[in-house]
Amino acid sequence: MQEDYLLSIKNVCKSFAGVTVLKNVCLNIRPGTVHSLMGENGAGKSTLMKCLFGIYKQDAGEFFLEGKQFNFTDPKHALENGVSMVHQELNQVTKRTISDNIWLGRYPTKGLFIDEKKMHNDTLDLFKRLNIHLNPKTRLDKLSVSQRQMVEIAKAVSYDAKIIVLDEPTSSLTAHEVEMLFAIMRVLRDEGVGIVYISHKMEEIFEVSDDVTVLRDGTHIGTEKIEDLTMEKIVNMMVGRDLDDRFPPKTNVPEGIHMSVRNLTTKYAPIVKNASFDLRKGEILGVAGLVGAGRTELIEAIFGARTTESGEISIDGKLIDNSTPNKAIGNRFALLTEERRETGIYPVADITFNSCISNINEYKNRFGLLNDKKMKADTDVQIKSMRIKTPNRRERIRNLSGGNQQKVIIGRWLLTQPDILLLDEPTRGIDVGAKYEIYQLIIDLANRGKSIIVVSSEMPELIGITNRIMVMSNGHVAGIVNTDETTQTEIFNLSTKYLNNNEEAEV
Ligand SMILES: Nc1ncnc2c1ncn2[C@@H]1O[C@H](COP(=O)(O)OP(=O)(O)OP(=O)(O)O)[C@@H](O)[C@H]1O
Ligand SMILES: [Mg+2]
Repeated sequence: MQEDYLLSIKNVCKSFAGVTVLKNVCLNIRPGTVHSLMGENGAGKSTLMKCLFGIYKQDAGEFFLEGKQFNFTDPKHALENGVSMVHQELNQVTKRTISDNIWLGRYPTKGLFIDEKKMHNDTLDLFKRLNIHLNPKTRLDKLSVSQRQMVEIAKAVSYDAKIIVLDEPTSSLTAHEVEMLFAIMRVLRDEGVGIVYISHKMEEIFEVSDDVTVLRDGTHIGTEKIEDLTMEKIVNMMVGRDLDDRFPPKTNVPEGIHMSVRNLTTKYAPIVKNASFDLRKGEILGVAGLVGAGRTELIEAIFGARTTESGEISIDGKLIDNSTPNKAIGNRFALLTEERRETGIYPVADITFNSCISNINEYKNRFGLLNDKKMKADTDVQIKSMRIKTPNRRERIRNLSGGNQQKVIIGRWLLTQPDILLLDEPTRGIDVGAKYEIYQLIIDLANRGKSIIVVSSEMPELIGITNRIMVMSNGHVAGIVNTDETTQTEIFNLSTKYLNNNEEAEV
C-alpha cells in the first residue's frame, strides 16, 4: 500500500530529444529513512530527482507524497509542498550574502521592507541547529566551495521539508564537514524526514543508508535494505557484472628524475613551506595529507597558478620558469583542478569545443583556421576511451550527467599532450566502473613516459595506483614513502607530523 510510504514514485519515463533516459522507474521512500540512490554516471539519478522536483516534466508516471498524488510544476511549488533538493551543481548568487542566498525569493518582510534583522537571526538559528560556523553576512564569493555547499544544505533544511534530496552533496566537502552533514541527516531522519541520498562513495553509502536503490541505464534494478547488501553486490547491480578489481595492474616503471622541486614556498599565508621533492619519469606520485595540508596549493604553485615566495623547478636537470599557467602549459604541464565543474566548463558549448579549447592552437592550420576534422576525431577518441555517455559529440556539455562532464574536462587536458600531469582529485564524482577506466588511462600515460602527480583524499585510490606517496602536513613535505611498503597508519602519522605544537620541534 502506497500509504505506508512517505514518497512513492511510480513508472516514471523520460526522454530527451528521442533518447530515453528513464524507463518505468519506481522508487519508494519509507518515512524516517535515508534512501541511497546509486548508479553509474548517466544512469538517470539526477534526472529522476529533477522530475520529482518539478524541473523536468516526466513523459509518464506518477508521484505520491503521503499517499496523495501530486505533480510539481516548478521547484517553488515543490518547496512549498515539502520537497527540497540540494543540486549536484551549485547554483548560487555569489555576489550576495549567505542570508540572501538562503532566503532568496521568500524574504521575511516588515511592512513594505525586508526584515533584515529577522533574516539574519533566522540564519543564525539555522546554523546553530546545524552546527555551522559562518557569519550570515559573508558574501558567497568569500567562501570555499565546501562552505558554499554547506550553505546550500542549510538552505534545503530551512524549508522544513518532508523529503530532502541530496544529489552528491559531499563531493566537495572535507571529512569533517561530511561528518557534520551525516549528523544533520541522522537528526532529520529521526524527526521522520525521508532523505534521498545520491553518492558514488561506497564507504558513505554503508555509513548512512537504510535502503539502497540502484538504477542502470534508466531502469530500476533493485531496492534492498543496507543489511542485505555488500559492496560487491552493489557494484554488480550498478555495472551488470562483477568487477574483479577496483584497480588495474601498475605496469609503469619509473626511471630517472624528470622534475625536481626545491624549496618551494608560497607567498600568501598560510600554505606551502619549503617543499622539496623529485618526480621520476613515468612515475605516478600520490600526494596525501589532511585538509589544509597544502596539497592543492602545492600543485597550483608548480603550475604557476599561485604566487611563490621562493623555489626552483627543473625538468631533466634544467631550470624552468613556471611563473604563470601559460608558461607552465608551454613547458608541457597540465593541471586538472579540484573544482573543475565549477570553474572549467563552457556549459552551452558542445563536447567538441569543451574538449579542444585548451589546445585550440594545435587545431589551427597555417591560415589560422580551425581544423574541424581533427577536432572531431580527437573528441571521438576521448568519448570512446573514457566511455563518455552522450548521443554524440555535438551535445551541449550541460546536458551530460555530472560525472560525464568531468570526464570531458579530464580529456581536455589529456589532449594538450602534457609531459607532466598534475591531477587534483581526478575521480571525484565518478562511478566505480569509470574510475577503473580513468586509473587505466593514468597508468597508460605513465607507461608512455608521462610523469604524474595525483592528489587524492581517498586512501585506497592512492595505494591502488601510485608508485610513491608524498605526505604533506601543515604545508611541509612530511615524508615520501614507497606505496608497496607503506601502511595507512604510517601515512596518517606522517600527515600529523607538523601539526601545531609539533611545528617547532620538527622543523
Ligand atoms: N537536459 C538534458 N538534455 C539531454 N540529455 C540529458 C539532459 N539531462 C540529462 N540528460 C541525459 O540523461 C542521462 C542521465 O543523466 P543524469 O544526469 O540523470 O545521470 P546521473 O545518474 O545523475 O549521473 P551522474 O552520476 O554522472 O551525476 C545522461 O545520459 C544525460 O546525458
Ligand atoms: Mg547526477
